[in-house]
Amino acid sequence: MRMRMTWLVLPQIRRHSTATSTSTSTSTRILGATFPTDAATNLSASVLERIPRRLHKVPNHPIAIIKERIEDYFVKTNQNYKIVDSLSPAVSTTQNFDQLLFDKDHSSRSPSDTYYVNKDTVLRTHTSAHQSEVLAGKQSNVGYLLTADVYRRDEIDLSHYPVFHQMEGIRIFDRKALLSESSADTFAPLPKGAKITDPTGLSNPETNPLQVAHAQKDSELVALHLKRALEGLVWHLFGSDKNLEIRWIEAYFPFTSPSWEMEVMYQGKWLELLGCGVIQQKILDDSGNPDKIGWAFGLGLERIAMVMFGIPDIRLFWSQDSRFLSQFENHTTKQITFQPYSKYPACYKDVSFWCPDGFHDNDMFEVVRDMAGDLAEDVALIDTFKNPKTGRTSKCFRINYRSMDRTLSNEDVDIIQDKVREEVARRCGVELRG
Ligand code: DAH
Repeated sequence: MRMRMTWLVLPQIRRHSTATSTSTSTSTRILGATFPTDAATNLSASVLERIPRRLHKVPNHPIAIIKERIEDYFVKTNQNYKIVDSLSPAVSTTQNFDQLLFDKDHSSRSPSDTYYVNKDTVLRTHTSAHQSEVLAGKQSNVGYLLTADVYRRDEIDLSHYPVFHQMEGIRIFDRKALLSESSADTFAPLPKGAKITDPTGLSNPETNPLQVAHAQKDSELVALHLKRALEGLVWHLFGSDKNLEIRWIEAYFPFTSPSWEMEVMYQGKWLELLGCGVIQQKILDDSGNPDKIGWAFGLGLERIAMVMFGIPDIRLFWSQDSRFLSQFENHTTKQITFQPYSKYPACYKDVSFWCPDGFHDNDMFEVVRDMAGDLAEDVALIDTFKNPKTGRTSKCFRINYRSMDRTLSNEDVDIIQDKVREEVARRCGVELRG
């Protein structure tokens, strides 16, 4: 069976205990609320430090700029969208998973993917976690746009960071007045020759089914409205790019059916921009809205900002260096392309070890995050070897250290690398090699 250790080392935890691991600690505070810790706790200090930053509310921050541009677009189509952007990231597992109809054994519930505050509370892994509560609040009979920081244990590279930002949009209609309500929104026409590929239609009985609770014509009307709204959004955001090309593909999410993803062609590759679909009627029923039908989408703001402003490294969003933030100050009057101010040299270090049962690569990445902070640009698994006699597996990871604002000396990096080695052995129970 998998043994997990916890390693919360926050100052407020130390007050309760002299141990540096949470196994003897009793609580953690998140934005003023106190949560008891338990054996499921797997938060790390480097992630908790990010919670108060709320980049989506920092004036002129690229994440906030994209948020505002998307809000402007939707509010132009219908001014009754409610804007929500200040909810705490600590949510119950019920909110994050159950209310959204995730199976009890869905992989995203795994502690190797999700930060558990304790066994019943997680740092939200997506903005969808708030669907039931916001819908139950009935603050708008049209829908809402909800922006928040979300948290996932993940790999380390130029486009992955354990904290990122999503926006969730929901549009609901009265089931009895669907036709008139859905035609009331004002969408600007798409440019002539807009390159949109959509082989997916409005449902597919085998691969992307309608819900039994929905009449086909109702579901199709909602799906058409959804696709039209999101195509308009992409032209609003990227319309100055004459070569813009998008495509729809079928998708699966537990909380929508039918479901799609929208992709955009960027630097010769299809890049996933968002997920969306017709909201599972059970979610509307359970939140006190059985008379409604609607759609939902969720998109990642970092990815859009990286494409829109040419930001090459996801760590830059967290930079407090004025050479980063000052570049976005006059975004309302000027089209901005980020000018990288420097690229300091990289320093590669390898670490190899024998893995214990249940070891997950994300456990290693977490140690690197904690010991190296934003000095780790990328961690790659470069070798895996299984000893046929003992059945044991050895892995070798290559860590690329690079600062965004200075040159690191080999000695600086060696100190961090030693800590990474020590901590990965201590926390993950690996046996270091070499
Ligand atoms: N919550 C999904 C994710 O994080 C994104 C998403 C997909 C949101 C479909 C939605 C939706 O509202 O309908 O991957």
